Amino acid sequence: MSVVILGIESSCDDTSAAIIRDEVILSNVTANQKVHSEYGGVVPELASRTHQQNIIPVVAKAIKDSGISVDDINAVAFTRGPGLMGSLLVGTSFAKGFALARNLPLIEVNHLHAHVLAHFIKENEQDTDQPSFPFLCLLVSGGNSQIIVVKNHLDMEIIGQTIDDAAGEAFDKCAKIMGLPYPGGPLIDKYAKDGDPERFKFSKPRIKNYDYSFSGLKTSFLYFLRDEMKNDPDFIEKNKADLCASLQKTIVDILMDKLVKASKDTGIKQIALAGGVSANSGLREAIKNNRNWETFIPKFSYTTDNAAMIAINGYYKYLKNDFIGQDAVPFARTNF
Ligand code: KG4
Repeated sequence: MSVVILGIESSCDDTSAAIIRDEVILSNVTANQKVHSEYGGVVPELASRTHQQNIIPVVAKAIKDSGISVDDINAVAFTRGPGLMGSLLVGTSFAKGFALARNLPLIEVNHLHAHVLAHFIKENEQDTDQPSFPFLCLLVSGGNSQIIVVKNHLDMEIIGQTIDDAAGEAFDKCAKIMGLPYPGGPLIDKYAKDGDPERFKFSKPRIKNYDYSFSGLKTSFLYFLRDEMKNDPDFIEKNKADLCASLQKTIVDILMDKLVKASKDTGIKQIALAGGVSANSGLREAIKNNRNWETFIPKFSYTTDNAAMIAINGYYKYLKNDFIGQDAVPFARTNF
Protein backbone atom coordinates (compact mmCIF):
# COMPACT_ATOMS: atom_id res chain seq x y z
CA MET A 1 0.00 0.00 0.00
CA SER A 2 1.35 3.42 -0.86
CA VAL A 3 1.65 6.22 1.69
CA VAL A 4 0.53 9.78 0.91
CA ILE A 5 1.86 12.59 3.10
CA LEU A 6 0.86 16.26 3.18
CA GLY A 7 3.90 18.33 4.21
CA ILE A 8 3.68 21.88 5.57
CA GLU A 9 6.58 24.30 5.97
CA SER A 10 6.35 27.76 7.53
CA SER A 11 9.54 28.20 9.58
CA CYS A 12 10.73 31.50 8.11
CA ASP A 13 9.36 33.53 5.22
CA ASP A 14 8.17 30.87 2.77
CA THR A 15 4.74 29.25 3.07
CA SER A 16 4.94 25.84 1.43
CA ALA A 17 2.82 22.71 1.08
CA ALA A 18 3.62 19.47 -0.74
CA ILE A 19 2.17 16.06 -1.42
CA ILE A 20 4.44 13.03 -1.57
CA ARG A 21 3.40 9.48 -2.44
CA ASP A 22 6.00 7.13 -1.01
CA GLU A 23 9.21 8.95 -2.04
CA VAL A 24 7.79 10.48 -5.22
CA ILE A 25 6.83 14.14 -5.28
CA LEU A 26 3.35 14.88 -6.62
CA SER A 27 3.24 18.62 -5.88
CA ASN A 28 5.28 21.29 -4.12
CA VAL A 29 3.79 24.78 -3.87
CA THR A 30 5.61 27.70 -2.26
CA ALA A 31 4.49 31.28 -1.71
CA ASN A 32 7.46 33.59 -1.17
CA GLN A 33 7.01 36.78 0.83
CA LYS A 34 8.08 39.97 -0.93
CA VAL A 35 7.08 42.15 2.02
CA HIS A 36 10.53 41.89 3.69
CA SER A 37 12.76 43.17 0.89
CA GLU A 38 12.57 46.83 1.90
CA TYR A 39 13.65 46.01 5.49
CA GLY A 40 16.96 44.25 4.72
CA GLY A 41 15.89 41.03 6.46
CA VAL A 42 12.85 39.01 7.53
CA VAL A 43 10.48 40.89 9.87
CA PRO A 44 8.98 38.13 12.09
CA GLU A 45 5.59 39.74 12.71
CA LEU A 46 5.07 40.46 9.01
CA ALA A 47 6.15 36.90 8.20
CA SER A 48 3.54 35.30 10.47
CA ARG A 49 0.76 37.54 9.17
CA THR A 50 1.65 36.69 5.59
CA HIS A 51 1.77 32.97 6.41
CA GLN A 52 -1.77 33.27 7.70
CA GLN A 53 -2.89 34.77 4.39
CA ASN A 54 -1.01 32.17 2.34
CA ILE A 55 -1.48 28.89 4.14
CA ILE A 56 -4.98 27.92 2.97
CA PRO A 57 -4.52 28.73 -0.74
CA VAL A 58 -1.07 27.10 -0.76
CA VAL A 59 -2.33 23.84 0.78
CA ALA A 60 -5.39 23.83 -1.50
CA LYS A 61 -3.17 24.27 -4.57
CA ALA A 62 -0.76 21.53 -3.44
CA ILE A 63 -3.64 19.07 -3.11
CA LYS A 64 -5.14 20.12 -6.45
CA ASP A 65 -1.79 19.98 -8.32
CA SER A 66 -1.00 16.53 -6.94
CA GLY A 67 -4.04 14.97 -8.56
CA ILE A 68 -4.89 13.01 -5.41
CA SER A 69 -8.11 13.31 -3.46
CA VAL A 70 -7.94 14.75 0.05
CA ASP A 71 -9.23 11.35 1.25
CA ASP A 72 -5.98 9.73 0.02
CA ILE A 73 -3.82 11.60 2.55
CA ASN A 74 -2.46 9.26 5.26
CA ALA A 75 -0.75 11.81 7.55
CA VAL A 76 0.18 15.47 7.96
CA ALA A 77 3.84 16.36 8.51
CA PHE A 78 4.75 19.87 9.65
CA THR A 79 7.87 21.83 10.55
CA ARG A 80 7.93 22.03 14.33
CA GLY A 81 11.24 23.95 14.44
CA PRO A 82 13.70 25.52 14.46
CA GLY A 83 12.52 28.83 13.05
CA LEU A 84 10.60 31.99 13.86
CA MET A 85 8.05 31.26 16.57
CA GLY A 86 5.15 33.19 15.02
CA SER A 87 5.76 31.65 11.60
CA LEU A 88 6.02 28.12 13.02
CA LEU A 89 2.78 28.62 14.95
CA VAL A 90 0.84 29.23 11.74
CA GLY A 91 1.99 25.99 10.09
CA THR A 92 1.74 23.97 13.31
CA SER A 93 -1.78 25.19 14.07
CA PHE A 94 -2.93 24.58 10.52
CA ALA A 95 -1.44 21.06 10.49
CA LYS A 96 -3.13 20.25 13.80
CA GLY A 97 -6.47 21.57 12.59
CA PHE A 98 -6.23 19.64 9.31
CA ALA A 99 -5.27 16.42 11.10
CA LEU A 100 -8.04 16.83 13.65
CA ALA A 101 -10.69 17.55 11.02
CA ARG A 102 -9.67 14.56 8.85
CA ASN A 103 -8.77 12.24 11.71
CA LEU A 104 -5.17 11.84 10.52
CA PRO A 105 -1.94 11.25 12.43
CA LEU A 106 0.42 14.20 12.89
CA ILE A 107 4.18 14.03 12.28
CA GLU A 108 6.64 16.60 13.61
CA VAL A 109 9.63 17.43 11.43
CA ASN A 110 12.90 19.08 12.35
CA HIS A 111 13.54 21.63 9.60
CA LEU A 112 17.28 20.88 9.51
CA HIS A 113 16.81 17.11 9.17
CA ALA A 114 14.40 17.86 6.36
CA HIS A 115 17.02 19.88 4.45
CA VAL A 116 19.30 16.84 4.53
CA LEU A 117 16.51 14.45 3.46
CA ALA A 118 15.71 16.63 0.43
CA HIS A 119 18.23 14.35 -1.33
CA PHE A 120 15.73 11.49 -1.23
CA ILE A 121 12.85 13.25 -2.98
CA LYS A 122 12.20 11.42 -6.23
CA GLU A 123 10.85 13.18 -9.31
CA ASN A 124 9.45 9.85 -10.52
CA GLU A 125 9.70 6.12 -9.76
CA GLN A 126 12.83 5.77 -11.93
CA ASP A 127 14.79 8.49 -10.10
CA THR A 128 17.74 6.73 -8.38
CA ASP A 129 20.24 9.59 -8.03
CA GLN A 130 20.47 9.43 -4.25
CA PRO A 131 23.35 9.06 -1.80
CA SER A 132 23.77 5.82 0.15
CA PHE A 133 24.66 5.68 3.85
CA PRO A 134 26.76 6.96 5.41
CA PHE A 135 27.32 10.27 3.65
CA LEU A 136 28.49 13.71 4.71
CA CYS A 137 26.09 16.60 4.26
CA LEU A 138 27.19 20.23 4.24
CA LEU A 139 24.08 22.11 5.31
CA VAL A 140 24.49 25.80 4.52
CA SER A 141 21.60 28.23 4.81
CA GLY A 142 20.68 31.65 6.12
CA GLY A 143 20.55 30.29 9.67
CA ASN A 144 22.89 27.29 9.72
CA SER A 145 26.27 25.97 8.64
CA GLN A 146 26.78 22.38 9.66
CA ILE A 147 28.69 19.26 8.67
CA ILE A 148 26.50 16.25 9.33
CA VAL A 149 27.28 12.54 9.21
CA VAL A 150 24.09 10.98 7.86
CA LYS A 151 23.90 7.37 9.08
CA ASN A 152 20.40 6.66 7.88
CA HIS A 153 17.19 8.59 7.13
CA LEU A 154 16.49 9.29 10.78
CA ASP A 155 19.95 9.06 12.34
CA MET A 156 22.24 12.04 11.84
CA GLU A 157 25.19 13.42 13.80
CA ILE A 158 26.41 17.00 13.59
CA ILE A 159 30.20 16.94 13.71
CA GLY A 160 30.76 20.66 13.00
CA GLN A 161 28.75 23.85 13.04
CA THR A 162 29.11 27.59 13.08
CA ILE A 163 29.92 29.25 16.37
CA ASP A 164 28.54 32.61 15.21
CA ASP A 165 27.12 33.66 11.82
CA ALA A 166 25.92 31.14 9.24
CA ALA A 167 27.41 31.08 5.72
CA GLY A 168 24.24 32.61 4.26
CA GLU A 169 24.35 35.34 6.89
CA ALA A 170 27.96 36.07 5.93
CA PHE A 171 26.87 36.52 2.31
CA ASP A 172 23.83 38.63 3.30
CA LYS A 173 25.63 40.83 5.84
CA CYS A 174 28.59 41.53 3.54
CA ALA A 175 26.14 42.30 0.73
CA LYS A 176 24.39 44.76 3.03
CA ILE A 177 27.73 46.44 3.82
CA MET A 178 28.12 46.88 0.06
CA GLY A 179 24.66 48.44 -0.15
CA LEU A 180 23.05 45.46 -1.92
CA PRO A 181 19.44 44.48 -1.09
CA TYR A 182 18.40 41.44 0.97
CA PRO A 183 19.01 38.56 0.41
CA GLY A 184 22.44 39.48 -0.91
CA GLY A 185 23.81 35.94 -1.43
CA PRO A 186 22.41 35.45 -4.95
CA LEU A 187 23.60 38.96 -5.98
CA ILE A 188 27.14 38.35 -4.75
CA ASP A 189 27.10 35.10 -6.74
CA LYS A 190 25.91 36.99 -9.83
CA TYR A 191 28.49 39.82 -9.67
CA ALA A 192 31.28 37.37 -8.72
CA LYS A 193 31.01 35.75 -12.16
CA ASP A 194 32.71 38.81 -13.73
CA GLY A 195 35.28 39.38 -10.98
CA ASP A 196 38.79 38.31 -9.99
CA PRO A 197 38.61 36.03 -6.92
CA GLU A 198 42.30 36.60 -6.11
CA ARG A 199 42.22 40.42 -6.13
CA PHE A 200 41.41 40.98 -2.43
CA LYS A 201 42.28 38.86 0.60
CA PHE A 202 40.02 38.70 3.64
CA SER A 203 40.64 37.06 6.97
CA LYS A 204 39.89 33.38 7.52
CA PRO A 205 39.11 31.93 10.95
CA ARG A 206 41.34 29.57 12.90
CA ILE A 207 38.82 27.35 14.64
CA LYS A 208 39.34 23.85 15.99
CA ASN A 209 37.63 20.68 14.82
CA TYR A 210 35.03 20.99 12.07
CA ASP A 211 33.39 24.15 13.38
CA TYR A 212 32.88 27.31 11.38
CA SER A 213 33.04 31.02 12.14
CA PHE A 214 32.12 33.85 9.79
CA SER A 215 31.85 36.90 12.01
CA GLY A 216 35.59 37.75 11.71
CA LEU A 217 35.34 37.75 7.92
CA LYS A 218 32.36 40.12 8.05
CA THR A 219 34.28 42.51 10.32
CA SER A 220 37.42 42.42 8.18
CA PHE A 221 35.29 43.10 5.10
CA LEU A 222 33.62 46.06 6.83
CA TYR A 223 36.92 47.62 7.98
CA PHE A 224 38.58 47.05 4.62
CA LEU A 225 35.78 48.85 2.78
CA ARG A 226 35.63 51.64 5.35
CA ASP A 227 39.38 52.32 4.88
CA GLU A 228 39.23 52.15 1.09
CA MET A 229 36.22 54.45 0.92
CA LYS A 230 38.08 57.15 2.83
CA ASN A 231 40.37 57.44 -0.23
CA ASP A 232 37.73 56.77 -2.85
CA PRO A 233 33.99 57.04 -2.04
CA ASP A 234 33.20 55.11 -5.25
CA PHE A 235 35.47 52.20 -4.32
CA ILE A 236 32.63 49.67 -3.97
CA GLU A 237 30.95 50.58 -7.23
CA LYS A 238 34.24 50.53 -9.17
CA ASN A 239 35.33 47.18 -7.71
CA LYS A 240 32.01 45.44 -7.20
CA ALA A 241 32.75 42.34 -9.27
CA ASP A 242 36.21 41.76 -7.77
CA LEU A 243 34.92 42.37 -4.24
CA CYS A 244 32.11 39.86 -4.75
CA ALA A 245 34.41 37.27 -6.36
CA SER A 246 37.05 37.60 -3.61
CA LEU A 247 34.46 37.46 -0.85
CA GLN A 248 32.74 34.44 -2.38
CA LYS A 249 36.06 32.64 -2.77
CA THR A 250 36.90 33.28 0.89
CA ILE A 251 33.54 31.91 2.10
CA VAL A 252 33.79 28.88 -0.19
CA ASP A 253 37.40 28.21 0.94
CA ILE A 254 36.33 28.33 4.59
CA LEU A 255 33.47 25.89 3.93
CA MET A 256 35.61 23.55 1.83
CA ASP A 257 38.60 23.38 4.22
CA LYS A 258 36.52 21.80 6.99
CA LEU A 259 34.53 19.60 4.65
CA VAL A 260 37.74 18.17 3.14
CA LYS A 261 39.10 17.57 6.63
CA ALA A 262 35.88 15.85 7.73
CA SER A 263 35.91 13.63 4.64
CA LYS A 264 39.57 12.65 5.21
CA ASP A 265 39.07 11.91 8.90
CA THR A 266 35.87 9.89 8.50
CA GLY A 267 36.82 8.24 5.21
CA ILE A 268 33.38 9.19 3.81
CA LYS A 269 33.55 10.19 0.15
CA GLN A 270 29.89 10.71 -0.67
CA ILE A 271 29.28 14.41 -0.18
CA ALA A 272 25.89 16.11 -0.27
CA LEU A 273 25.01 19.79 -0.21
CA ALA A 274 21.84 21.19 1.36
CA GLY A 275 20.30 24.56 2.25
CA GLY A 276 19.87 27.82 0.35
CA VAL A 277 23.60 28.55 -0.02
CA SER A 278 24.02 25.34 -2.03
CA ALA A 279 22.69 27.43 -4.94
CA ASN A 280 26.03 29.26 -4.91
CA SER A 281 27.90 28.57 -8.13
CA GLY A 282 31.36 28.89 -6.52
CA LEU A 283 30.50 26.32 -3.87
CA ARG A 284 28.92 23.93 -6.38
CA GLU A 285 31.99 24.13 -8.58
CA ALA A 286 34.41 23.58 -5.68
CA ILE A 287 32.50 20.49 -4.53
CA LYS A 288 32.13 19.03 -8.00
CA ASN A 289 35.83 19.64 -8.76
CA ASN A 290 36.96 17.38 -5.93
CA ARG A 291 37.79 14.20 -7.81
CA ASN A 292 37.84 12.02 -4.71
CA TRP A 293 34.17 12.61 -4.05
CA GLU A 294 30.84 11.46 -5.37
CA THR A 295 28.70 14.56 -4.96
CA PHE A 296 24.96 15.18 -4.61
CA ILE A 297 23.27 18.55 -5.04
CA PRO A 298 19.47 18.69 -4.92
CA LYS A 299 17.33 20.54 -7.42
CA PHE A 300 17.22 24.26 -6.61
CA SER A 301 13.56 24.14 -5.52
CA TYR A 302 14.48 21.57 -2.86
CA THR A 303 17.50 23.49 -1.51
CA THR A 304 15.61 26.58 -0.35
CA ASP A 305 12.82 26.23 2.20
CA ASN A 306 10.13 23.91 0.80
CA ALA A 307 7.48 21.48 2.00
CA ALA A 308 8.60 18.58 -0.23
CA MET A 309 11.49 17.99 2.17
CA ILE A 310 9.07 18.09 5.12
CA ALA A 311 6.82 15.54 3.42
CA ILE A 312 9.68 13.12 2.65
CA ASN A 313 10.85 13.30 6.26
CA GLY A 314 7.24 12.68 7.29
CA TYR A 315 7.17 9.63 5.03
CA TYR A 316 10.15 7.98 6.77
CA LYS A 317 8.67 8.75 10.17
CA TYR A 318 5.30 7.37 9.07
CA LEU A 319 6.98 4.05 8.25
CA LYS A 320 8.23 3.97 11.86
CA ASN A 321 4.85 4.98 13.33
CA ASP A 322 6.58 8.04 14.74
CA PHE A 323 3.59 10.31 15.42
CA ILE A 324 2.98 13.24 17.74
CA GLY A 325 -0.10 14.41 19.65
CA GLN A 326 -2.31 17.47 19.27
CA ASP A 327 -0.49 19.04 22.25
CA ALA A 328 2.69 19.59 20.16
CA VAL A 329 4.03 23.14 20.30
CA PRO A 330 6.69 24.60 17.98
CA PHE A 331 10.26 25.17 19.07
CA ALA A 332 12.32 28.16 17.95
CA ARG A 333 15.70 26.54 18.58
CA THR A 334 17.09 23.04 18.59
CA ASN A 335 20.33 21.18 18.98
CA PHE A 336 19.10 18.77 16.30
O1 KG4 B 1 17.91 27.70 3.21
P1 KG4 B 1 17.46 29.10 2.91
O2 KG4 B 1 16.53 29.27 1.75
O3 KG4 B 1 16.68 29.71 4.12
C1 KG4 B 1 17.13 30.22 5.31
O4 KG4 B 1 17.98 29.62 5.98
O5 KG4 B 1 16.57 31.29 5.63
O6 KG4 B 1 18.75 29.97 2.69
C2 KG4 B 1 18.72 31.32 2.38
C3 KG4 B 1 20.15 31.82 2.31
C4 KG4 B 1 20.25 33.34 2.27
O7 KG4 B 1 21.23 33.72 3.21
C5 KG4 B 1 20.69 33.61 0.84
O8 KG4 B 1 21.48 34.77 0.69
C6 KG4 B 1 21.51 32.38 0.56
O9 KG4 B 1 20.79 31.30 1.14
N1 KG4 B 1 21.68 32.14 -0.89
C7 KG4 B 1 22.86 32.25 -1.53
C8 KG4 B 1 22.60 31.99 -2.90
N2 KG4 B 1 21.27 31.72 -3.04
C9 KG4 B 1 20.72 31.82 -1.79
N3 KG4 B 1 24.08 32.55 -1.07
C10 KG4 B 1 25.07 32.58 -1.98
N4 KG4 B 1 24.91 32.34 -3.29
C11 KG4 B 1 23.70 32.05 -3.80
N5 KG4 B 1 23.56 31.81 -5.11
